Amino acid sequence: MTEKFIPLIDQRQQRSLSNIPAVLQEPSGLLSDAMGRPLHDLRISVTDRCNFRCVYCMPKEVFGKDYPYLPHASLLSFEEITRIAKIFAAHGVKKIRLTGGEPLLRKNIEDLIAMLASIRTTDGTPLDLTLTTNGSLLTKKAQTLKDAGLSRVTVSLDALNDVIFKRMNDVDFSVAEVLEGIQAAHAAGLGPVKVNMVVKAGMNDQEITSMARYFKDTPHILRFIEYMDVGASNGWQLDEVIPSAEVIRRIREAGMPLLPIDANYAGETAERWQHLDGKGEIGVISSVTQAFCRDCSRVRLSTEGQLYTCLFASTGHDLRHLLRNSEAISDFQIANVIASIWNVRSDRYSELRSQHTEGLHAERKKIEMSYIGG
Ligand code: GTP
Ligand code: 5AD
Ligand code: SF4
Ligand code: SF4
Repeated sequence: MTEKFIPLIDQRQQRSLSNIPAVLQEPSGLLSDAMGRPLHDLRISVTDRCNFRCVYCMPKEVFGKDYPYLPHASLLSFEEITRIAKIFAAHGVKKIRLTGGEPLLRKNIEDLIAMLASIRTTDGTPLDLTLTTNGSLLTKKAQTLKDAGLSRVTVSLDALNDVIFKRMNDVDFSVAEVLEGIQAAHAAGLGPVKVNMVVKAGMNDQEITSMARYFKDTPHILRFIEYMDVGASNGWQLDEVIPSAEVIRRIREAGMPLLPIDANYAGETAERWQHLDGKGEIGVISSVTQAFCRDCSRVRLSTEGQLYTCLFASTGHDLRHLLRNSEAISDFQIANVIASIWNVRSDRYSELRSQHTEGLHAERKKIEMSYIGG
């Protein structure tokens, strides 16, 4: 086995201090980046810690006992997160996804959800407020999350076979407990529950058809995700990716015919399919073989308040220093900083990587997914 080390340059330190523009404008709710893409989706990482050690995300060799997680004082408080979220809503954000690490590990997360649930979009409607979780705490927390105002959840589950699943989460967590969490979320009204399966060749690809069969007759939506070259820890290689076209082929070949269905919204990550007998939807997320940067309307806020305009960015824009500045900086000023960042955004990493394949992946110093969230 090849050894992995924490990179010498901690990518979390790569940040730029954002200046307040000289001319300020009221948010119109209609931001547009350099490629004409709007801003609709804000993903907020609420902790960089996780109780799993998925091999493709937080491998044990890197995220061991001595890993330097963020100290508590670095984390944005719930008040700071809510303040930023309101400013984003004024800029046209319609959906907020809480991520991690594992977001349910953040103490009193229900309080944050209640605070975010009170925010209104520019149309006057509540936000689509959702959360991505590994499901380990869902059985216990589903009802309180719903009561706090969460709309729905997405649960990661990479296999039905316990041996394979445990090999992937690397902390001996069983499939049954995640399935129980999914059931609890559904029962609490957090559906439709989306189930995310990252497919890594030679690791869990033999589980594709059994996962499809298991979820076919449930109300949950299973999505197969191409293993991505995110971060610097997972030792990604192109030959470990199973293209979505192959996933669909295998499911059909296993006697489950599928029909393509329309996207729910422009820029949706998943391409949607329906089982021909009408029972159940599946999705494929093909960020490696069919990049979806063209309509990408997502922005990410790290646990300590760095703003990333792409999942594969190397540098964040420091919003926390604006929130904690000794001279009071107004929401109006912060809104203008955000607008100035979005207006010049030209990220399209996945598209570029498809043109360069492995070269671009090797060149770029990328931030970990556990730090900025999925
Ligand atoms: P909904 O449509 O709201 O249900 O969610 P979603 O599909 O946007 O969200 P989710 O966080 O479940 O995304 C699923 C997976 O798609 C993530 O875990 C990532 O692997 C991948 N993904 C999400 N957003 C991006 C993105 O902006 N770029 C790339 N390359 N991959 C992404
Ligand atoms: N490739 C694809 N998806 C990933 N995730 C984490 N790491 C990767 C990766 N390397 C996604 C999984 C999980 C979510 C938290 O992040 O979908 O469900
Ligand atoms: Fe934790 Fe999710 Fe990363 Fe797995 S994929 S290590 S559950 S944050
Ligand atoms: Fe958006 Fe960057 Fe992902 Fe492309 S690679 S879809 S620009 S986050």
